[in-house]
Amino acid sequence: MSSVFLDPQFSDEERRRHLYEGHLLVFSPRPCVNALRDFARTMIEEAFQGLDPTRAQFHLPVEEYVAILAKLKPTFINHPTCKDLLQTILSDFGCDLTRTYFDVPRLRTSTSDGYLTSGIAYAFHPHRDTWYSAPQCQLNWWFPIYEIEPSNGMAFHPRYWSQAVANSSRIYNYAQWNTQSRHEAARHIYSDTRPQPHAEEEMELDPQVRLVPPPGGLVMFSGAQMHSTVPNTSGKTRFSIDFRLVNLDDVTNRRGAPNVDSSCTGTTLRDYLRGTDLAHLPEDLITPYDTPPLNQPGS
Ligand SMILES: [Fe+2]
Repeated sequence: MSSVFLDPQFSDEERRRHLYEGHLLVFSPRPCVNALRDFARTMIEEAFQGLDPTRAQFHLPVEEYVAILAKLKPTFINHPTCKDLLQTILSDFGCDLTRTYFDVPRLRTSTSDGYLTSGIAYAFHPHRDTWYSAPQCQLNWWFPIYEIEPSNGMAFHPRYWSQAVANSSRIYNYAQWNTQSRHEAARHIYSDTRPQPHAEEEMELDPQVRLVPPPGGLVMFSGAQMHSTVPNTSGKTRFSIDFRLVNLDDVTNRRGAPNVDSSCTGTTLRDYLRGTDLAHLPEDLITPYDTPPLNQPGS
């Protein structure tokens, strides 16, 4: 059973424990998150040059839209201000920055009415991030930049928290993906043929949970949580930010969510940066994750 906690007064350790047990946490907007939200809004609104970003898709040819996102997204992701704002968020939430490592915040878009669902605005089918070489201790923090509604947010499928799904994660190796497929995203405008892990059996996606926080309202979930992009029928593009965290002690001690069905190889751990000085995790901690055995003990 998964619970949804609203504004829990947990320590970081308690928060991680609850997330590893499959619960979802939601936090009301607070100034530190709103600062990142507003920084993103400024960049997005500059990129769309006066068009309402949530409606710009109806005024631009899709190729032009892709070109805007192809410039906007990497600029945002790699902007030093993003890292600064993210560090402030982690401090405000009581994370120990010396032991908390983050991946750069991603800017996501989900366009309406099937305008653009591949490549740079990939509409994610039901998946666990742990099918994509994420460690079992990966935690995801996600928030919308503008108002969302149930028909343009994201969906959770918590019945699969403890239930295995036949899937093709065995085909996925993060190092290979990085060298072969990632940089091709902007070329996949009409369809996406890059090999990605999928369920290999029929899934029951309903009932599903769609959390609808206000802009800057933060949703936290485990990378092992089954989730998907909602088919957007709202008439508005959804813009959201998400970033991933791992805790040094959990990486070291192999704490995290249970692995019920993931068999990918490689690891995303080399992407993470320490909260204090942006140092990488020690390589000797990462190596054992490169080819994790299925159902590793304690994970
Ligand atoms: Fe995901």
